[in-house]
Amino acid sequence: MTEIHKFGGNWTEEKLKRVEKYLIAYATIMNKQNFRFAYIDAFAGTGYIEEKKNKTDGKISLFQQNDIKEIETFSKGSARIALEIKPEFDKYIFIEKSKKHFTELLKLKEEFKDKEAKIDLINTDANNWIIDRCNNYKWQNNRAVLFLDPYGMQVNWETIKAIANTEAIDLWYLFPFGIGVNRLLKKNAADMPASWEAKLDDILGTNEWKEDFYSQRQDATLFGNESKTIKDADFSKISKFIVKRLKSIFAGVAENPLLLRNSKNNPLYLLCFASGNPRGAKTAIKIAQDILKRP
Ligand SMILES: C[S@@+](CC[C@H](N)C(=O)[O-])C[C@H]1O[C@@H](n2cnc3c(N)ncnc32)[C@H](O)[C@@H]1O
Repeated sequence: MTEIHKFGGNWTEEKLKRVEKYLIAYATIMNKQNFRFAYIDAFAGTGYIEEKKNKTDGKISLFQQNDIKEIETFSKGSARIALEIKPEFDKYIFIEKSKKHFTELLKLKEEFKDKEAKIDLINTDANNWIIDRCNNYKWQNNRAVLFLDPYGMQVNWETIKAIANTEAIDLWYLFPFGIGVNRLLKKNAADMPASWEAKLDDILGTNEWKEDFYSQRQDATLFGNESKTIKDADFSKISKFIVKRLKSIFAGVAENPLLLRNSKNNPLYLLCFASGNPRGAKTAIKIAQDILKRP
């Protein structure tokens, strides 16, 4: 292990543990069926996560968030975890945009020699790849679990929609909740730059959040009443909104997404699950909801 990937905390372990449990259940079920089935890791990282502690520098850019440095003890990244799962998947697709991380990822082919032919490594932008592959590929006899594990707000609704449209993919999505969306939602709507509003529209695929998260308030001033649009959304409301949005395009959605907090108890992400296939969704949701509710 040379280049090591720095991010995360206990919540990272929580996240990976849940996804791993689902991958085992999924591979076990699919192994008895006639579909070809893949694991797609669209923000694959390096295969490793650094083990020693570090601190956050507090300078997290709202739009890229590629500088989170809160580190805990955990070593296997999602790509490695997936490759170790039994029974095996028919295909492992790892997408990684960073050249440096991708170079590390390439080593998995060496390490998992027996699975070399099953591993596809792609050094590109996840959104572009997903939209192209979901829209231009025949999914009838194919199924996949896709893990979207971005640092921040890198996934647009267009990508989520393309995944749902295949009706063949189960999605685990680490939604940028406290780390992204909630930070863009200014208390006073008038203080929100247009670019922030546009970013929220892109991520949520609608501008309905304005109605759901804000309400009008009359404040008495020396010169009469002043009307203000004030945020009245808490985490529960935002979480319900995300589930509602996913339900508008997927066959099934887990009702109990997992709120992941950092060591200071601040909410960071919401681990969401959605299932695309109308026939398989009921079972998939039952399994995922059970995995999400366990301690
Ligand atoms: C949170 S890390 C993923 C961690 C990984 N799932 C694991 O468990 O080891 C996010 C990764 O996504 C990559 N990334 C960021 N933007 C991307 C994009 N648009 N497309 C693909 N990868 C991207 C980053 O370089 C980083 O390696």
